[in-house]
Amino acid sequence: MDVHNVDLTISAVEEKQYPKTNYPEIALVGRSNVGKSSLTNTLINRKSLAHTSGQPGKTQTLNFYNVEDQLFFVDVPGYGYAKASKASREKWGKMIETYLSQREQLRGVITLVDGRHAPSDDDISMREWLKYYEIDILTVATKMDKIVPGKWNKQESLIRKTLSMSQDDALVLFSSVSKKGKDQVWDWIEGRL
Ligand code: GTP
Ligand code: MG
Repeated sequence: MDVHNVDLTISAVEEKQYPKTNYPEIALVGRSNVGKSSLTNTLINRKSLAHTSGQPGKTQTLNFYNVEDQLFFVDVPGYGYAKASKASREKWGKMIETYLSQREQLRGVITLVDGRHAPSDDDISMREWLKYYEIDILTVATKMDKIVPGKWNKQESLIRKTLSMSQDDALVLFSSVSKKGKDQVWDWIEGRL
């Protein structure tokens, strides 16, 4: 998609604030600091519309980005942020679960994992949970610019194995620095609109 017009429609904390439109929605989930906001910015050709930070826990609300009045990207707060209080983790869990399991406009979820490491237990649980709800998943391995190309295949195998993915399950190796993988991510999204 050729993207020019994007705006942050709402940072929502509860259901009644979600947009009232019927545009398809694509959500981005993954642990804190994995690069969800950076991926959002890359997809919409903007440097910093979605706020990014070296400090985990930057995104705390469900942020709905209206893309060309055609779809919404929903930037979801990261999980696995160790310093978050138990109360805020519970609140997070409830908000995300409600959104992901009940939102009719949701067409698919992009799950991000850090391309440098094996996926965490939280990454595995999130994937199992999404599969239980029969949600369409694209897995994106981020920060590939930090790994030499000679190791990309090995990392891909490790991620597939740890997440019990079959060869048919979609996986894109991505970097918000080099923009590697951007077109493949867009292809997957457009296949869901
Ligand atoms: P929360 O909002 O805290 O859940 O984090 P997030 O998943 O939105 O991560 P964010 O996009 O804010 O990125 C976290 C940090 O990783 C920032 O310092 C980014 O610049 C960096 N980062 C994200 N993606 C990449 C990438 O592909 N390559 C490199 N080198 N750095 C990246
Ligand atoms: Mg963020």
